[in-house]
Amino acid sequence: RATQRFYHDKVLDHYNNPRNVGKLDAKSQKVGTGLVGAPACGDVMRLQIEVDDKGVISDVKFKTFGCGSAIASSSYMTELVRGMSLEEAGKIKNTTIAKELSLPPVKLHCSMLAEDAIKSAIKDYRSKNPTLGPDAAKGA
Ligand code: FES
Ligand code: FES
Repeated sequence: RATQRFYHDKVLDHYNNPRNVGKLDAKSQKVGTGLVGAPACGDVMRLQIEVDDKGVISDVKFKTFGCGSAIASSSYMTELVRGMSLEEAGKIKNTTIAKELSLPPVKLHCSMLAEDAIKSAIKDYRSKNPTLGPDAAKGA
């Protein structure tokens, strides 16, 4: 049973070989940056998305100062959201990540960090590009 092992192979792989570590130009209008912290442990995650003119996430980078599960969660998140629309990416739940990586309950907040980070990156992107947001149709 998965619960017999603290870390699943998949989390170990994302921990040992994190995907998409790095940074994008936070000043670019095409880039949204999310910077979030976990009050429970003080870990910090930065996640950045680059969005093309069709509203699709074309690039993702992250840097996580935190535990293995947080690093694995952010690595997995970057793979998941590439190619998604902002709307799709905004719906990803931490529980999906936790399940995919078989995180134990005590590590659930680590995947929450990844959910908070993508939401925060989307929010930042939308604040830079208000005409592309849901309010655009209202002519706001
Ligand atoms: Fe954050 Fe584990 S408590 S590194
Ligand atoms: Fe705090 Fe993982 S993010 S222990």
